Amino acid sequence: MQEQIKNIQTLEELQALYTATFGKNGTMTARLKEMKNLDNDARAALNTENATLRELFKMRQTELENAVLMAGLQKQKLDVSLNPMPENRGTLHPLTQSLSEISKILESFGYTMHTGPEVEDDWHNFTALNTPSYHPARDMQDSFFLENGNVLRTQTSAIQIRAMESDGVPIKMFGVGATYRKEMDATHSPMFGQIEGLYIDKDITMSDLIGDIRAFLKRFFEIDDVELRIRPSYFPFTDPSIEVDLKWKNGRWLEIMGAGMVHPNVLRNCGVNPDEYQGFAFGFGWDRLAMLKYNLNDIRQFYDNDVRWLKKAGF
Ligand code: PHE
Repeated sequence: MQEQIKNIQTLEELQALYTATFGKNGTMTARLKEMKNLDNDARAALNTENATLRELFKMRQTELENAVLMAGLQKQKLDVSLNPMPENRGTLHPLTQSLSEISKILESFGYTMHTGPEVEDDWHNFTALNTPSYHPARDMQDSFFLENGNVLRTQTSAIQIRAMESDGVPIKMFGVGATYRKEMDATHSPMFGQIEGLYIDKDITMSDLIGDIRAFLKRFFEIDDVELRIRPSYFPFTDPSIEVDLKWKNGRWLEIMGAGMVHPNVLRNCGVNPDEYQGFAFGFGWDRLAMLKYNLNDIRQFYDNDVRWLKKAGF
């Protein structure tokens, strides 16, 4: 019987034998009914046989069920060599990526990030920055004015005024945000991103300014010997004012940023005593820096939202 169970090849046959053995009229059922007539040893032997047979049936049933399952799986084989669906991964926009790199570098120098409103009042965008209404320098930037006299922020310099008004001095901050001017060509967009650094304390000099700019450009562009050209320039809110050019890999000089020592009038406008405190400010277009870093030639592509271009440019 034990051999018989082991050799059964289908679940149906196993079921039939089980019924013939343990069913109402089964052979084992009949023998168990007669058990009372047996002596102790024979009873024990029968019990053992009964238990063994049931166990064997169960084992064979499991085996046969597994065989059925395996046969089914064989038939519905999965072809794992097929290429998976291409994965569409999003990335951060190049401007977002470069902003986060720039912020990380400036923060590592001890500057803290500030933001401000894009619609500015005259005071923060011009007057406090030593550019009163009669000042010819207002024409340096073609501004978008609102009917109520407010302006779409033309420079993040407005943020440094807000920062000094709210936090006082000493202060080491950078302002970040969109700025707006009426101009548009391959290197100018009517909306662009600016970053502005400000460091005011008791003994801050022009060489601190140039040192920070140099260290910043070195980190951002990953170049070892940064060659700078410092040109005298004019901004109403700095004196002296400079413009900083960076010698690029191809030997060309690139205009990178405006900077200078903060004008005493600006400090006074923010309630700071210029005889006690002084410092510097620098400002640059961060889209421009990103263009240079990623070797792009048209600033407008940043804002076109053309995924094909972003892909081709490597983002
Ligand atoms: N605000 C100036 C500009 O937009 C840049 C600048 C910032 C210059 C700080 C000097 C100091 O052109």
